[in-house]
Amino acid sequence: MRIPLIAGNWKMNMNHESGKDLVRKISNKVSASDTEVVVCCPFPMLLEIGKCLSDSSIMLGAQNMHWENSGAFTGEISADMLLELGVKYVIIGHSERRQIFLETNHMINLKVKKALERQIVPILCVGELLNERETQQTERVLRDQLENSLVNITTQEASKIVIAYEPVWAIGTGKTATPEQAAETIGFIRGWLKEKYGETLSEKVRILYGGSVKPDNISEIMESPNIDGALVGGASLNDEDFINIIHFQH
Ligand code: G3H
Repeated sequence: MRIPLIAGNWKMNMNHESGKDLVRKISNKVSASDTEVVVCCPFPMLLEIGKCLSDSSIMLGAQNMHWENSGAFTGEISADMLLELGVKYVIIGHSERRQIFLETNHMINLKVKKALERQIVPILCVGELLNERETQQTERVLRDQLENSLVNITTQEASKIVIAYEPVWAIGTGKTATPEQAAETIGFIRGWLKEKYGETLSEKVRILYGGSVKPDNISEIMESPNIDGALVGGASLNDEDFINIIHFQH
């Protein structure tokens, strides 16, 4: 049985006060339940947001990390620095990192490996551009991203990973993939995992959908048995929306 996961990605939004206010409201309404909840806030807020979450079942996540332990990497943050702050999850290879900051699959692979080595759960993001979907290249693009981001990742390591399928054209645009598109593409990802790592592993890995998830579309997205939760951007900045997404089953 895969435990559902709802992860909020604040991206470069909020400040200490608004962030603390938001997580207090969320943690008051979210008790330890059968859904895991993660809040991925910006680096400077991790300490304070982590303190606010200390009595809650909500876990702390980061939005990125570097693959080296330490050294001359101005502006970067290591896995050990995240661990010191209580981080349990880290988003890796988000399309904004791939596109704006030119992260390659090789860099993403190094980050996934380091996160696993330090026992931080990587949320590995994959997804196609609009023109790639329109030209029937979605599966080729996803296969390429998965193969190259998971080079030298063993079956045991892969069982710890969370994959987030985020069609780039659905991020922050208000356009959600139809439930059929999300189900079909996530089914493809699970099939790829089965091919590469075998059936047992492919049934263990949680795969999330991300891209304009809102309270009013989460139920239909989650109807597919292959979809184990969501990576939520904009709607994670509003307490009511995020709480309603977490409580979608009820
Ligand atoms: O990480 C989250 C995704 O990029 C989705 O963002 O919910 O604002 O479309 P969004």
